[in-house]
Amino acid sequence: MEHNIQDIILNVESLNTYYGKAQILFDLALHVYCGEVVVLLGRNGAGKTTVLKSIMGMISSKSGRVFFKGKSIDKLPPYKCCALGLGYVPQDRRIFKGLTVLENLEVGRQPPSEGYGEWTPARLLELFPNLAERRNHLAGMLSGGEQQMLTIARTLMGNPELIILDEPTEGLAPVIVNHLLTTIQRLKSEGISILMAEQNLNFARSISDRACIVYQGQIRYQSPIAELSQAAYEKYCAL
Ligand SMILES: Nc1ncnc2c1ncn2[C@@H]1O[C@H](COP(=O)(O)OP(=O)(O)OP(=O)(O)O)[C@@H](O)[C@H]1O
Ligand SMILES: [Mg+2]
Repeated sequence: MEHNIQDIILNVESLNTYYGKAQILFDLALHVYCGEVVVLLGRNGAGKTTVLKSIMGMISSKSGRVFFKGKSIDKLPPYKCCALGLGYVPQDRRIFKGLTVLENLEVGRQPPSEGYGEWTPARLLELFPNLAERRNHLAGMLSGGEQQMLTIARTLMGNPELIILDEPTEGLAPVIVNHLLTTIQRLKSEGISILMAEQNLNFARSISDRACIVYQGQIRYQSPIAELSQAAYEKYCAL
């Protein structure tokens, strides 16, 4: 697919990120076009989560530029990034275990930005039928797969234009992974842009437009997902 430069929804330039004195990301650059699904591949510890947290304003010790819809967001705290239309689903599903499914959804409510459809609990329960059956159950009683769905559903309540998913299939049974795939395809068809970290290559191939391989804190390789080089994958991602 051909893209114009003005169609970039997220642009990251020369990102350097540190935990204490340890530098984790080195001059990292990446971009996501409107409506595109981009996957960050890479081994454990490569820096994928650090990239996503840096974009969301969750790590203050960093330099570089991050633009979302053309606005500079690199100095903004996470809640302001969310208010601008960025949604974030962390690697460690953070649901409120003592609240019900419906209450968890309400916690995520944010007004939609112009031109984006408003997600309501009713629309989300239609998208996630398993959650509908358990709408009044405490979230802490849900299975791992249902908790992952709830985290995504709660993030959608914020009406994001771009959703960031950190290893969404981690620890999920194959049948749940298939359900998640259908759900993410539906989000893509709604025009939502997606940036995700993922180590499940089959899943990544089924949903992504483009892959970026993170290795030792840098993007070492990128290509349309259909052209992903086996050699690059084995060099940088295989265990
Ligand atoms: N809070 C932290 N303090 C210090 N070092 C950290 C911290 N979090 C991560 N690191 C280190 O930063 C590097 C990148 O970690 P990161 O979590 O970004 O990798 P990842 O690609 O997301 O890995 P995984 O696939 O296991 O989730 C690793 O060397 C890790 O040990
Ligand atoms: Mg990670």
